Amino acid sequence: MLSKKIEEVLNNQIRIEAESSQIYLAMACWAEVKGLEGIANFMFKQSDEEREHMLKLIKFINERGGHAFISELKAPDVSFKSFKEMFEMLFEHEIFVSESINELVHISLEQKDYATHNFLQWYVSEQIEEEAMARTILDKINLIGDDKGGLYLFDRDINQLTVSTASTMSPE
Ligand SMILES: [Fe+2]
Ligand SMILES: [Fe+2]
Repeated sequence: MLSKKIEEVLNNQIRIEAESSQIYLAMACWAEVKGLEGIANFMFKQSDEEREHMLKLIKFINERGGHAFISELKAPDVSFKSFKEMFEMLFEHEIFVSESINELVHISLEQKDYATHNFLQWYVSEQIEEEAMARTILDKINLIGDDKGGLYLFDRDINQLTVSTASTMSPE
């Protein structure tokens, strides 16, 4: 059974994941109308993943005797100065989400809710990966600079970018 406090903070995370999904959906649309097809596909995929994160929380809350609450969402930014700015915003947003997850982990321990604490570990690993991915992308963008040919290749190859992090690597 979830405490009222845990139910409330998990419901808040549902809203954050839903807003993340909308943010990346808006980025996908911006990239698509700019003809950046690879970037658009990447963002559509990110948007779907955020929806999955949200659904996982919804199932958990309802299964544990709480009530998942679907709320109004903040409208995302729909246009960007550059694709670089867009990816910087993605990175900053992921940092914000990681902080929110860390706070949830902290509260679950305070409340001695070990089931929720265990459930949240999946999100902790996921955030390590998402931050690493965003960092890798920003490094590539900084290498490209203003080079149009570089942007062409980046747009073509972005969906092949995979990041192995310490959390996903199996020990030797
Ligand atoms: Fe997420
Ligand atoms: Fe994310």
